[in-house]
Amino acid sequence: MTHRIAVIAGDGIGQEVMPEGLRALEAAANRFKLDLAFTHFDFGNCDYYLAHGKMLPEDWFEQLKDFDAIFFGAVGWPEKVPDHISLWGSLLQFRRRFDQYINLRPCRLMAGVKSPLANRKPGDVDFYVVRENTEGEYSSVGGKMYEGTEREIVIQETVMSRFGIDRVLKYAFELAQKRPRRKLTSATKSNGIAITMPYWDERVDAMAKNYPDVSTDKYHIDILTANFVLHPDWFDVVVGSNLFGDILSDLGPACTGTIGIAPSANINPEGTFPSLFEPVHGSAPDIAGKGVANPIGQIWSGAMMLEHFGYKAAADHMVNAIEAVLAQANPLVITRDLGGQGTTLTLSDAIVSAICR
Ligand code: NAI
Ligand code: MG
Repeated sequence: MTHRIAVIAGDGIGQEVMPEGLRALEAAANRFKLDLAFTHFDFGNCDYYLAHGKMLPEDWFEQLKDFDAIFFGAVGWPEKVPDHISLWGSLLQFRRRFDQYINLRPCRLMAGVKSPLANRKPGDVDFYVVRENTEGEYSSVGGKMYEGTEREIVIQETVMSRFGIDRVLKYAFELAQKRPRRKLTSATKSNGIAITMPYWDERVDAMAKNYPDVSTDKYHIDILTANFVLHPDWFDVVVGSNLFGDILSDLGPACTGTIGIAPSANINPEGTFPSLFEPVHGSAPDIAGKGVANPIGQIWSGAMMLEHFGYKAAADHMVNAIEAVLAQANPLVITRDLGGQGTTLTLSDAIVSAICR
């Protein structure tokens, strides 16, 4: 079976880490006899915007909808195009129109990576953040009145639906069910946000009844962020609304060392539309063009894509290769963000040969 993958590298270091992600995927495909077919697209970046006045062509939906997945780099170059235009004009269009309602981010402390948290060792941090990715606080309902006057008013409404909450909870409970600890933590703020968040809690309680084998707890988002830092070992699967999930899914990976290794998946679980796999980091204009970007976030995202296709062994093999190279912590191989003097290529070469071994 051929898996058709749309490749969109985007801006900045997206262009540098994408070839390495593809190289690692090709090595894994070769080893596990997988048939991956890549098609490259040159839209979804700021140069395309400067040339065409938009981030994507009119028919982007038609062009991409029949792919099995989208492998994405990073988008954004604030000196050329304001971030809200580049992000809303590309990535957020994919997430919404392809109904990628799950944003999934593993947070795992690996050997050889120094955690900013004192006295934490590999194994202490190993959880997933599941973020609702299509509604909630990130809504386009609202507006501005009396602009530029003393009476200026802005309103942006949070939109939560039973349909939207239940489907993300179902995914999170099922994920927890597959993990040894079978524990789900819900992010809330029902003490302060007194309409939508009690409703979120109510849906969590209702859904928990379907999963008696999963233990459930909840924390208000303020203390939850503190506990990510103080007690990361408490967590297994953490589920949150769009905003809370966004915050937790940056904080979680940050607790495991560098943003350069963190992967993410934007998933349409039913497979009606392609899911999108991308590193957590952005286009990093400060280091772009220097060949020093850490390629692991992109490579690990590729592993998540293989797992999504059902190739768990191949995905695990890629992650093991990453772990093995990190554990060696060879300063000539690992990149600067990991404390080494290596480059994108030295690190990628080491991982690709570990995948081939
Ligand atoms: P960023 O993630 O691009 O960079 C933050 C810091 O982390 C920088 O110091 C950067 O050098 C470092 N860093 C990031 N990735 C790295 C890697 N692979 N290896 C080594 N160091 C790495 O976030 P920032 O600076 O806030 O945003 C830059 C641009 O990226 C903006 O236009 C922003 O909108 C966009 N962005 C795009 C995202 C996406 O495509 N999903 C996600 C986050 C930001
Ligand atoms: Mg974020």
